[in-house]
Amino acid sequence: MKLFGTMKLRETGCLEIGGCCVEDVTREYGTPLYVYDTKLIRDKCSEFKTNFVSDYFDTDVIYASKAFLTKAMCNLLAEQDMSIDVVSGGELYTAISSGFPAERIYMHGNNKTREELEMAIEYNVGTIIVDNEDEVEELNEICEAMKRNAKVLLRVNPGIDAHTHEYIQTANHDSKFGVSIYCDNTKELIRKIVESENLNLKGYHIHIGSQILLESSYYASIKVIVDFINKIKEEFGYEAEELNLGGGFGVYYSEEDTPFPLGDFLKTLTNKIHIEMVQKGLSINKVMIEPGRSIVANSGTTLYKVGNMKDTYGGKKYIFVDGGMTDNPRKALYDSKYEACIANRLFDNNEDVYTIAGKCCESGDILIKDINITVPKKGDVLAVFGTGAYNYSMASNYNRILKPGVVFLEDGKAIEVVKRESYRDLLRNDI
Ligand code: LLP
Repeated sequence: MKLFGTMKLRETGCLEIGGCCVEDVTREYGTPLYVYDTKLIRDKCSEFKTNFVSDYFDTDVIYASKAFLTKAMCNLLAEQDMSIDVVSGGELYTAISSGFPAERIYMHGNNKTREELEMAIEYNVGTIIVDNEDEVEELNEICEAMKRNAKVLLRVNPGIDAHTHEYIQTANHDSKFGVSIYCDNTKELIRKIVESENLNLKGYHIHIGSQILLESSYYASIKVIVDFINKIKEEFGYEAEELNLGGGFGVYYSEEDTPFPLGDFLKTLTNKIHIEMVQKGLSINKVMIEPGRSIVANSGTTLYKVGNMKDTYGGKKYIFVDGGMTDNPRKALYDSKYEACIANRLFDNNEDVYTIAGKCCESGDILIKDINITVPKKGDVLAVFGTGAYNYSMASNYNRILKPGVVFLEDGKAIEVVKRESYRDLLRNDI
């Protein structure tokens, strides 16, 4: 079990995060509960901001808000001088409602609705990443009607194999995202945007996938995209001023994952961009990256209460917890591995192998398969680590289970930033 950020083992046997004993936190806010080590989020933001810099071009670190977004998270990001990427009206609305500066918002999406595009223009979103020809036409029309201009990047697919789970690869030739650099139509689309009166094409966006553990995938993508920038420049004179390299930087979930050291990687990345640009006689004004998971995954822990236990005829020992695939669908979706502990009896060495399952009516409702863990008692607090990214944001109400609350832990204080859902919330939209 790996400890992250401010995590400590208290002498009392309780896990401490952000100076708070997690058992006390569950007494106050109940379970299941998402808790975040906000100091670790801040540290991650500054690790990105201090290392992703260059003497030759401006840089921007854009948090991919799909990983975890609440108003409180937007406020924290604004304090850290981060930008935000949103992919839906809902994410945009959350950011704007928190007072996040619109010019630092990047709007993504492969199928933005007309309403979402209008909303982005209305709110004065800084950059819209256009995904396809239909969208370019629609956005142009909207800008015309609203008498506004939009700064855009074109999402292109560089066709890079990013060695990650098939469901989170985004740059293979059949990906639904962006337009391929290998399609002849792409050139025509770029020409169309450049010639459009209302759209100001600043450059390109690529994103090669998520939970990428190989630095070489990024270096390969730089070569490919710089070649593309050069090719377009040679063919009809359009030279990109901005380049957004997307996110996807892998994190530690279990011993199977060996993420590359971020600081060194980011320095090498900016150097390689500069070198590739110089070799092609190109220059670039601004380069962006969009980390999501690597900012929040390890800052988040989910706290559950141990409920019933069961030994099966087949020999499996189950621990059932009061949440499950509704608050963490990642095992079911991607066969993700997690580490966990009995957080209120850390020094009890009486261990056994258990499978931790949730309370949903679904056999695939497993959180962790075959983990060596302290023999639990009913009522113990079970902490699952590394649940800060794509857990709260992908939570569901399957079986009409309530979504947990979110509590930020820092300097011995627990601050509730999202209330646990109530049964009344479940009926909010029922007519
Ligand atoms: N930029 C773009 C355009 C993206 O599509 C994504 C993630 C990111 C940035 C951030 O990637 P990150 O740094 O977080 O890896 N639900 C999946 C992950 C889906 C990622 C979608 N796009 C999971 O739970 O693993």
